[in-house]
Order: sequence, then structure tokens, then C-alpha cells
Amino acid sequence: MNNEWYKDRVFYQIWPRSFRDGNNDGIGDLYGVYESLDYLKSLGIGGIWFSPLYPSPNADYGYDISDYKNIHPDYGDLEIFRKVLDKAHELDIKVIMDLVVNHTSDEHEWFVKSRDEASPYRDYYFWRKGKKNGPPNNWDSFFAKDAWSYDPKTDAYYLHLFHEKQVDLNMDNPKVREEVKDIMRFWLDMGVDGFREDVITFISKPEGLPDSISVAQRGIELFDSGPHIHEYLQEFRRDVLDHYDCFVVGEGPMMSVRKALPYLSGDHPDLDLMFHFQHMEGDCFFTDYVPHPFSLVKLKHAFSHWQNALEGKAWNTLYLENHDHPRVISRYGSEKYRTESGKSLAVSYMFQKGTPFVYQGQEIGMTNIKLPDISDYKDCMALKHYEAGIRHKPKEKVLPKIQKATRDNARTVMQWSDEPNAGFSTAAPWFAVNPNYPEVNVETEEKDPDSLLHFYRDLIHYRTQSEIVRYGTYKEFEPLNSKLYIYEREYEGRKLLVLCSFSEKPAKYSFPKNFDFRKAKLIFANYADNPSTPVIQTRPYECRVYEYEK
Ligand code: GLC
Repeated sequence: MNNEWYKDRVFYQIWPRSFRDGNNDGIGDLYGVYESLDYLKSLGIGGIWFSPLYPSPNADYGYDISDYKNIHPDYGDLEIFRKVLDKAHELDIKVIMDLVVNHTSDEHEWFVKSRDEASPYRDYYFWRKGKKNGPPNNWDSFFAKDAWSYDPKTDAYYLHLFHEKQVDLNMDNPKVREEVKDIMRFWLDMGVDGFREDVITFISKPEGLPDSISVAQRGIELFDSGPHIHEYLQEFRRDVLDHYDCFVVGEGPMMSVRKALPYLSGDHPDLDLMFHFQHMEGDCFFTDYVPHPFSLVKLKHAFSHWQNALEGKAWNTLYLENHDHPRVISRYGSEKYRTESGKSLAVSYMFQKGTPFVYQGQEIGMTNIKLPDISDYKDCMALKHYEAGIRHKPKEKVLPKIQKATRDNARTVMQWSDEPNAGFSTAAPWFAVNPNYPEVNVETEEKDPDSLLHFYRDLIHYRTQSEIVRYGTYKEFEPLNSKLYIYEREYEGRKLLVLCSFSEKPAKYSFPKNFDFRKAKLIFANYADNPSTPVIQTRPYECRVYEYEK
């Protein structure tokens, strides 16, 4: 199947609970999405990734699925889903679903049945006897205290790499793999165009589930790209995906280029795309909870490393935000220079080679929030970190760390207008509204031709027309410059020069020798004038993109 269309489109991620409330019960839903499809089309969006829409007890807001073939009643039903899908397709917008099959909810009927030792579902999960009055091994959970929870009914433990209500499936059981394929077919037959596969690189666990010798996140070295991962992904490809015009993007936490290439390259790759995270560590080590001051050099290194290593071998994903990280302006940009830094950030990634993803609210420059009390937060990961933190430190020292790092920063409701509740709903929203909504919202930015929203719209339209951006080679300049990110793209003798400041302070920049700035066309900039000297002194978060002939 020729599924190459994903290379030419810009995707938009919808985290449904906070996107738009169409039936005014305070929770975002598919009725709200249906009303917003024209907005997405006007932005130039060519695909939607839906974070989970399925029934879920919401221990991890949808990433704990209790029924894979239905829609959560909070979001609507299969009928409205089909309407959204049909209208999206009429607008030439593809739709991909989140496929979360590393684990199910503990309320999924398979797991409920598996609690009985004699059930055929017992082997769908990892049920094991404890060792020396403790769990079967020493693995850590990302969201809970341990990776194992005890069930007195059968005196056994079950494995959960995430929350105790997200139970790991045993992918070594062929019946489980058949279930996964059945779920895939269900949605593909309905017409969806592919999947974003949640923590897919963790689905193959090592035989015998041995103890870990890692000192950090224990277990990870054993189940990350585990022994049968490529085999299982090939099986899904061969038995299902190859038979549809669809594409898959996998999520690969802690992914390195070396590990990613075997998933992405060759004649029959396991995955079309991979979400990797190195560039999400510009201000932290591995997780947002271990922060360090922002380093542009580190960020650029990550960008260029992936651009260069994938060139000619595999296709990249480009993104700066999703539902798992604080807002990028609050991290790599500046809330003071919200619009300027928002534009510079947009340019910095949108002109790279790959398929860009925009997360809801990113296009209007939504920023982080600070809620006054830990009880105001919903993110289970934040609550885990808070509990761990207050064991050693006073509460008032722990809360600011949570406020900065929590995923809830990205989960406040979408700001549509300056009406009450940011126009998200007429009812009180299920979660916080950022108090900056009277200025930061779609309606206000639509009216302002210099807004970030218009800038994103122009960028997306330019990108989808430009062969240089889509297919050109990439070359970075001045990798050690700690204020400026400068790179060039080239395709069939035509070039783009991209210059982005990541600083409020001025930085000097001289155009390359062979670059005649008088002949070059300035196609994007976040300050109005176009200086006519070969040396420029950047203004706060200034960005420029020039198009020229070689
Ligand atoms: C992925 C999701 C995240 C979720 C986790 C467990 O990383 O993006 O939101 O909590 O997997 O499913």
C-alpha cells in the first residue's frame, strides 16, 4: 500500500477531555470536535491524532482502557465518532487513534476474569507468585510505588509498569496478539487511517521477568525494546496494517537513534514513524521532574542528531508539545515574550524534515498554570511525585516542583474565546482554565493578523506547499551558539535559511558568505522590518526564514 501521504501533512493532537465541550456538561467531547473541524481545516491540518476516546475509569485519563471497541460516554458514542470521521474525510483530514496495548485497565473484562486462576484470561497478564514475602522482581513503576500489586484472592501479584490500574498485557501469549489485531481491524474497517501506538517499545517483556540491575528506573533496560518486539510489530504489520492504506507512529520513550533505526528503516519497517524524546530534554534529564536550566545547545544537538541520522533512511516526527509535557513557551521560550518566542519555537521545528504534530492550544500559545494546592491537580504522575517528595521535604518546597513539571500544564481546557470558561463550555469545566484566557484565545487571535495563530496557519500552509521543507536536506550552523539556532534546507538548488533566537538578549549574526540577503526573500519573521545589512543583532526571540536560489 502506498501510505506515503503522512509525509506531506501536518497533524493536530486532540486530548479530548479538554478540547471542546459540545453538549455543555463541562467535559470536552466529540460533538465539540465535530464543530471544530472547520477550524482545523482552516489551519491547514491534514490529520488528527486522538488521544484515547475509549471507555476508561480515567486513572490515567484514557490511557487505562476498559473497552477497546467503543467510545467513552463522556465523549459521545460510535455514531458521533463516525460523523466526525466522515466529516474529517470530506475535508481531507486523516484520523488516527491512540492504541494503548501495553496495558489495559484493571476494569477491562479480560482482567476482571483473569483474577480467577482457572480463567483462560489468566495468561493475558503477568500474574506471578511473590518472592520472599515481596513482589516477584524489583522493577519500578513509572506511576506507582512498585511495578507489582498484590491480590490476596489468589495470593499473587500482577505487573503494571504504570499505574496500578494499568495492567500489563502478556504479549507473548498469541491470543493477546490476536486481540490486538482484532482491535486494529475494528477501527481500520470503520475507516480510521492509522494509530499512534502508546509505549509500544515496552510490549515485549524478557522471559522469566528477571531482576533489574539498573540503578535508576529499575527494569527498563529489560523491557525497553524487549526480545520479541520487532517480531510482534512485524506480525501486526503483516497480518493487519499491510492490508489497509494506513500508517503507524509508535511512542518510544528514551529512544536513541541507534535503537530507532531498526524500527523505521528497511523495506518493511515495523513502524512508519517514531515519537522520540531527546529534544524534550532541553531543560531536564530524562523526565520533567529532574530539571536543569534550559540549554539551547543540548536542544539543537538533539534536533540535528535525529535530522542527520534519519536522512535517507527513515522519516522523522517533529513536535514540541503533547499531553505529557508542560507547555513549550513556558519551558524553552518566554511567557513575557509569549508571541515572539511562540513564533520562534514554531519556526525552529516546523522547518525541519519530517511530519509535524501540533498539540491543541500550542497554536495560540497556551502556557503553564500554577494551581494553589496539590488537591487541585489530577495527573496521577504528579500525585506520585508529590507523595514521594513530601517524605523528605516540606510541602511548600515540593508543590512548586510539581506545578512546573506536571502534565496537567498541558491539560487545561482549550481557550476558544474570552467568554466565561474560555468558551470551552457553558458549564463549569472538569479542570482548570488558565487565567490568561481573556488575552490568549482563538477568537481574539483570529482578529489579530500578527497573532501566533495566524503565524501557525501561514507556516502550515507554506509547509504543505514547499518541496524544500518537505524533502530538502538539513544542515546546521554554529551548533555551540547558545542563543541562536541556525540551519539551512536545500532541495534542487533552492534553499531556506532558518534563524531562531532562543534568547531575550541580543545576539549578533552574520549571514553566510555565499548568501546574498538582498536577493533572498524573507518569507517568515516575527518582527516587521527586514534589515538591509549583512550583520544583524537579534531582538528578543527573533526569528527569520529566507528563501533563495543557490
Ligand atoms: C504514554 C502516554 C501517557 C501515558 C503512558 C501510559 O506515555 O502518552 O499519557 O500515561 O503512556 O499509558
